[in-house]
Amino acid sequence: MLVDIEITRRDKAYEWVLQWMTAHYQSQLAGPSRGAARHSRIESLIRRFTPGLHHLQIKTARINLPDGSQHTRFSLVPGQGKHIFRYKNAFIAVNRERITKSFDTNGEPFESVTLTTLYAHRHVFEELFQEAHALSVQNMEGKTVVYTSKMAEWLQSGQPKRKRPFDSVVLEEGLSGKILKDVREFLNARNWYLDRGIPYRRGYLLFGPPGTGKTSFVQALAGELDFSIAMLSLSERGLTDDRLNHLLTNVPPRTLVLLEDADAAFSNRRQADSDGYNGPTVTFSGLLNALDGVASAEERIIFMTTNHIDRLDEALIRPGRVDMTVRLGEATEWQMEQMWDRFYADADPEKTRKALFMEKARQTGLMGSVSTAALQGLFLYNKDDAEGAIAMLDQLASQQRASDGRTSSK
Ligand SMILES: Nc1ncnc2c1ncn2[C@@H]1O[C@H](COP(=O)(O)OP(=O)(O)OP(=O)(O)O)[C@@H](O)[C@H]1O
Ligand SMILES: [Mg+2]
Repeated sequence: MLVDIEITRRDKAYEWVLQWMTAHYQSQLAGPSRGAARHSRIESLIRRFTPGLHHLQIKTARINLPDGSQHTRFSLVPGQGKHIFRYKNAFIAVNRERITKSFDTNGEPFESVTLTTLYAHRHVFEELFQEAHALSVQNMEGKTVVYTSKMAEWLQSGQPKRKRPFDSVVLEEGLSGKILKDVREFLNARNWYLDRGIPYRRGYLLFGPPGTGKTSFVQALAGELDFSIAMLSLSERGLTDDRLNHLLTNVPPRTLVLLEDADAAFSNRRQADSDGYNGPTVTFSGLLNALDGVASAEERIIFMTTNHIDRLDEALIRPGRVDMTVRLGEATEWQMEQMWDRFYADADPEKTRKALFMEKARQTGLMGSVSTAALQGLFLYNKDDAEGAIAMLDQLASQQRASDGRTSSK
C-alpha cells in the first residue's frame, strides 16, 4: 500500500518543498548516512534502479546581503524526473514532472512534484511539511517579500528584500506612529468586522509631491508588520478593469497592497498617449468596483498613492474604499532634524553642526520647501562629511528655486 501527495507548482508549498529537499539532499550527500548498514545497502540497491536519482537542476539566485551588496548563489534542486531519498525511517519516492503541453494562466508550463511512500510511513509527510515550512520561514526572517503582477496573478518579484527599518522613513512628527497604530487596530479587530457583516478591509490614501516617502513608507510599514507587499501601478499599460479586479480579490495572505498613481484611473484615458498608445487601461468605475469587490474573511489592506489629489473623485474617498487620507509633504523642521540625526548623530555628538545646518536651512528658505528625498540625496552625497552637507545647502536652495520656477511657470 502506497500513499502519494501531489504538490503543483501553483501551490505555495511547492517552493518550500523543493528548497527543503535541496537542503535534505545536501545533508545526505555531505556524509555517510547515520543509518545502519542495512539502510545503505537498500539505498545503493535503490540507486541502481532509479535512474533519475542524480539528476539535479541548478538554480541561480541573487541574494541581497545585509550590507546591501548582491551575490549570486547557486544551489542544486531536484531536477525533473524520479528521485528517492530517505527521511527519518521512510523512503520517499519523488517524481518531479513538467507537463509541457499544459500551461497555467501565466504561460508557464504546468509542473508538479509527487511524493510517494509506504502507507505505514504516511505520518512522515506531516513532519516533512512542517520542517519545510519552518525552513522557509527561517529563510524569510528579516525580509520582505515583494509581489508584482504578471497578467492576472501576483508573482514574487526576485528574492525577498531586507526589511526597511520602520524609523528610516521620517514622516511628520507622530504621523508614522499614527498610521501604524491604525493598521494594528484594524488587524486586531477581525471579529468585530465579521460579527457586524462589514467587509474586513481598510484603505489608505497617501498623497503629496514626489519624493516625500509614500512608497518607502509602505515598504517600511510592511516590514514592521511582517507583511509582504504587492505593488501595482494604476498607470501601468495593459492593466484592465478585469485584471485589477482579479488581482485585488486574490491578494496573497498577510500582504499590503500598494496601488501607485491612483489618479491614473481618473485622467481622461480615452486620449492616446504622446506615443500613440491607446491600449486598455483602468477606468474610474473599474477601480471602485475592484475596491468594493467580493469580501473575504482575510484582511485586505490597500495603500493608494498619488501626486495629484486634485484629480481624484470624491467617490473614492468613502469609508470602505479609503478610510484614512494622509498628506506627506516637504520636510518640516522636525523631519530635517530627524534625518540629520540618522546620518550624522555619531559624527556630531555635540549637535553644534546640526544647529548650524538648521540655521542655514532656515536662512536659505529650504525649511518646509525641500523634499525629504532631496534631503536624503544631500546627506548621501556628503555621507561622512557634515560640513560638506552644510556647505551644499546653498546649491540645494538654488536648485530648489529653479525647479519651483519651472513648476509655477507651467
Ligand atoms: N520621509 C522620508 N524619510 C526618509 N527617506 C525618504 C523620505 N522621503 C523620501 N525618502 C527617500 O527618497 C527616495 C524616494 O522616496 P519615495 O520613492 O518613497 O518617494 P515617493 O513619495 O513615493 O515619490 P513619488 O511620488 O515620486 O512616487 C527613497 O530613497 C527614500 O528613501
Ligand atoms: Mg512612490
